[in-house]
Amino acid sequence: MRHVIQNALHHFGYEIHRTQLLPKKLPNRGIPIELPSVSPIWPLPRHPGGPSDDQIREEFAKYDFWHYSYAFDGGLSFPIRYENPRAVINPQRARQRFMHFFPYLMAVGGSLRGKRVLDIACNSGFWSIQCALLGAEVVGFDGRPELIQQAELIKSIVGVRNVEFKVMDFWEMSSQSFGGTFDIVLNLGILYHLTNPLEALRLTISMARKYVVLDTEVYPSRQPVLKLVWEESTDFRTATSSGIVTNPSKSSIDLMLRHIGAHRWFEIPLRTTDMPRDYLDNKRASWLIEAA
Ligand SMILES: C[S@@+](CC[C@H](N)C(=O)[O-])C[C@H]1O[C@@H](n2cnc3c(N)ncnc32)[C@H](O)[C@@H]1O
Repeated sequence: MRHVIQNALHHFGYEIHRTQLLPKKLPNRGIPIELPSVSPIWPLPRHPGGPSDDQIREEFAKYDFWHYSYAFDGGLSFPIRYENPRAVINPQRARQRFMHFFPYLMAVGGSLRGKRVLDIACNSGFWSIQCALLGAEVVGFDGRPELIQQAELIKSIVGVRNVEFKVMDFWEMSSQSFGGTFDIVLNLGILYHLTNPLEALRLTISMARKYVVLDTEVYPSRQPVLKLVWEESTDFRTATSSGIVTNPSKSSIDLMLRHIGAHRWFEIPLRTTDMPRDYLDNKRASWLIEAA
């Protein structure tokens, strides 16, 4: 019977091949964790002697696009603004993402106080500022100078001193350039804007003494595949130069972490439906990785 089907398919130009399936689950590399409750510091505090309401409004107006909404003590707030006017805007997105992975960060480290944190592709500094308010010593960098100007603006309003922002390309990152490694490395929303995810993960993990939080779009396949996508650099949230980027499937993340010798890791589970749509639809996911 098999031959009959094979011959019939062959007649129409099709062939059946057995593919070598990889084990669906890699050995258990989970990190046992009890979750503390932690929420973003919001609205953001304003330091006395900082810019006035009018100065802040004027500074925000200098930029056409903002990736996060910002709200400050006293009622001043600014919405997300995207280049694509049809883009779906979820003003809760940053808060929902914070609630997704920050409890895990706090659980493994106890608290961020005194921890050295690297925020890769920090955009206008939402995560860096939160970590600084939670007591970490933070370095945030992004490849787009205008986003680092935005981050410096937020820093000047909040008045945190324990955060430093730099314009830098992902591939220039090295522990030498930052005066050593970091307790925690945030690799959020950047992996799928890069050409070589394996090397990107290797470089990310080399920056960490302890933990990496990885948050990325994922390609919805059970197979360990990397989907190649052409990305234009025209939108301020995308790759800094146009070219091929990759969308990794979840199992490809497992395989890449295994290949580069990460110590332990696990995918941060969804614990609520109060999450952005792409996470609920299995198009985005986050991992907590123990680097060493
Ligand atoms: C989708 S945003 C993510 C922002 C933030 N990390 C988050 O997850 O909320 C992608 C960011 O990556 C930055 N970026 C893209 N390619 C980069 C590169 N090669 N080096 C440094 N930053 C880059 C962009 O400028 C943008 O701020």
